[in-house]
Amino acid sequence: MHKRDFVRTLGGASLGLLFSDEWWARHAALPPRQLAQDERFWAEVRGQYLLTPEYINLENGYFLMQAQPVLEAFIGRVREVNRQASRYMRTRQFDDKNAVRGRLAAMAGVPPEELIITRNTTEALDTVIGGFRWQAGDEAVMAAQDYGAMLDMFRLQARRHGIVNRVVNVPMDPRSDDEVVRVYESAITPKTRLLMVCQMVNITGQILPVAKICDMAHRHGVQVMVDGAHAFAQLEFTIPELRCDYYGASLHKWLACPLGAGILYVRRDHIAELWPTFADFGFPDDDIRKLNHTGTHPVHTDLAINDALDFHEHIGIRRKEARLRYLQHYWTDQVRGRPGITLNTPSDPARSGAIANVAVAGLTPAALAATLFERYRIWTVAIDSAGVHGVRITPHLFTSAADLDALVRALRELAA
Ligand SMILES: Cc1ncc(COP(=O)(O)O)c(C=O)c1O
Repeated sequence: MHKRDFVRTLGGASLGLLFSDEWWARHAALPPRQLAQDERFWAEVRGQYLLTPEYINLENGYFLMQAQPVLEAFIGRVREVNRQASRYMRTRQFDDKNAVRGRLAAMAGVPPEELIITRNTTEALDTVIGGFRWQAGDEAVMAAQDYGAMLDMFRLQARRHGIVNRVVNVPMDPRSDDEVVRVYESAITPKTRLLMVCQMVNITGQILPVAKICDMAHRHGVQVMVDGAHAFAQLEFTIPELRCDYYGASLHKWLACPLGAGILYVRRDHIAELWPTFADFGFPDDDIRKLNHTGTHPVHTDLAINDALDFHEHIGIRRKEARLRYLQHYWTDQVRGRPGITLNTPSDPARSGAIANVAVAGLTPAALAATLFERYRIWTVAIDSAGVHGVRITPHLFTSAADLDALVRALRELAA
């Protein structure tokens, strides 16, 4: 995409020019893996963010800070919606949301009729789990390393409908995709109806072979719901490539939208089977919008998805993924195998992206996170569940090699 296309104005907000023509053309021509190592290029990108000088933020897995042009555009959207108030809501709200939905569907590679904008992954996936036509004795398969909110939602169905949840353990450093597929397959019985799988496990950063898991599950007549919270807009893929039945993601994570945006994809032939959480008889049973009645909500966030998409497309998913992978390996390669340091992330580079998890012998995850922050001014998050004990390190596009040098120094000192 040429940078001029980026000067789109929607809702009165303008993102402005990011970089000079000549500068951008020079860098855009480089192969992404080469550009990934160009600290001067990424320093310019870093310049688009307003970073706190107080600490190095390596906890970008919760939600991602917006770049300044996206934040400013979002503030413009808030002002514009406020100015037009109910007139905006009554005349433009739905058409605008539909247009954003179209852009997201194009990015995901699915028809817009199979996708809705939700407030987050939790809403997206819980809509499926709670809307499934469960019968007592039905079974569901999931992993201990899945996200807690979805695991809780399955537990709720067990209480409410008497379903049985079978929880597997994902091997941390598998030798093959088949090893992972077999773990999921071992939990399937003739009563299994739905399998949940993470595209990227949030506590370890592990990428799972989702398409192979879907093929296996379908052979058993089991539907698959994918948790894409950490994959959408971090990795280059389309939803059809995964061959799943349902897909949910948060846009305030790797797309760096303002807080409170997500997507839900439901394969066309499953839409009619799902019960909505909030009733809406304004749409036919096989129209996915029946699942989207959340009432009056912050529509300026929906609008700002446009701005986050502009920024994301301007950088380009290939450049973004290559840089994030480079950053992860920049630090993990310097500490992997060192005495006293354990990486809780697969060693095979194809099985991880931006996120990795590290432990230091003799320190609990909480103590390690606290020490990194108090002594080294490095902000991370402790993970101490589902057999994973360490701190999660999540760089983003504004992370520099120097930031990660500081992390490596700190880990080496603490391990010594
Ligand atoms: C794997 C995974 N799934 C789901 C979620 C929930 O995301 P949200 O709180 O945006 O709904 C998260 C949040 O971190 C996550 O890591």
